Amino acid sequence: MSNLPAAPISTIPADETSEMVQILRRILITGASGAIGGALARRLAAPGTHLLLWGRDAVRLAAIAAECRAAGAVVALRQIDLADTASMLAAIAAEDAAAPIDSALLVAGQGDTVAPGQIVEPAEQVARLAAVNFAGPAALAAALATRMVERGQGRILLVGSAAAFHALPHAATYAASKAGLARFAQALRLAVARHGVTITLVSPGFIDWAGGGRPVPRILLLPLDEAARRILAAFAAGAGHAIIPRRFALLRLLDRLLPGVARDALLRRLRP
Ligand SMILES: NC(=O)c1ccc[n+]([C@@H]2O[C@H](COP(=O)([O-])OP(=O)(O)OC[C@H]3O[C@@H](n4cnc5c(N)ncnc54)[C@H](OP(=O)(O)O)[C@@H]3O)[C@@H](O)[C@H]2O)c1
Repeated sequence: MSNLPAAPISTIPADETSEMVQILRRILITGASGAIGGALARRLAAPGTHLLLWGRDAVRLAAIAAECRAAGAVVALRQIDLADTASMLAAIAAEDAAAPIDSALLVAGQGDTVAPGQIVEPAEQVARLAAVNFAGPAALAAALATRMVERGQGRILLVGSAAAFHALPHAATYAASKAGLARFAQALRLAVARHGVTITLVSPGFIDWAGGGRPVPRILLLPLDEAARRILAAFAAGAGHAIIPRRFALLRLLDRLLPGVARDALLRRLRP
């Protein structure tokens, strides 16, 4: 059994990976085959960590696993589709029964928008994004939180999006699924806080990585490694909600304060 401190640790510098590792130890990362999940795995990989890396793409999973093993971590891979709820819940029960998971970083998710010329997202896309961005991670967090509450300790990070703050006409389901996940994370945090379990929601704006190809102003982009550093800093500090970069908190405030007519006019001008 693990004997981690239950209380949030608020003073750990994000760069001090070895200290972080002692806190996190057996760590699940979903979306480990992706840009952000992979960057988080690289930062956490060190002697003493046991990483459970989940994703779908076997080649990218194997590549990140090799890097993490080279850094001294013990690594186990799992190819899994988070839209397959039954398989996912069976997998998490098996992993946690084998040895308790101390920390879970639920990063996996999909971004999607209307296609050029389309006004409304296809219904299939709506159902897929709702499953992968909301139902999957929320169910996984619930399964883990239940077990962590029984142990009186544990940490769960959910990666949302700053898109959750806005009614994006071109990305209605992405915004809505991340808004749902955010509300779930905030409610779960309140439910489990007194049982030694910490829930952290991180809402990133735009993260800059090679495959991203984003036509957005540089001022809104956060480099991938800096994003990973800030996400882990928020997680280690036991923050309830971190918006990165902070300027997206200003955009959220603007969305809340603008008169409805002005806000709608601005949102209608946005393009994928
Ligand atoms: N990049 C940004 O600017 C940004 C901004 C805000 C929020 N986010 C959020 O950050 C998270 C990671 O994004 P990213 O930029 O790292 O994207 P990414 O490189 O496309 O990675 C997405 C990850 O999610 C996994 N995934 C997708 N669908 C899955 C499914 N059905 N079952 C299991 N795994 C699935 C992918 O696995 P495979 O590749 O193996 O299929 C991949 O590991 C997402 O939740 C995203 O919404 C990103």
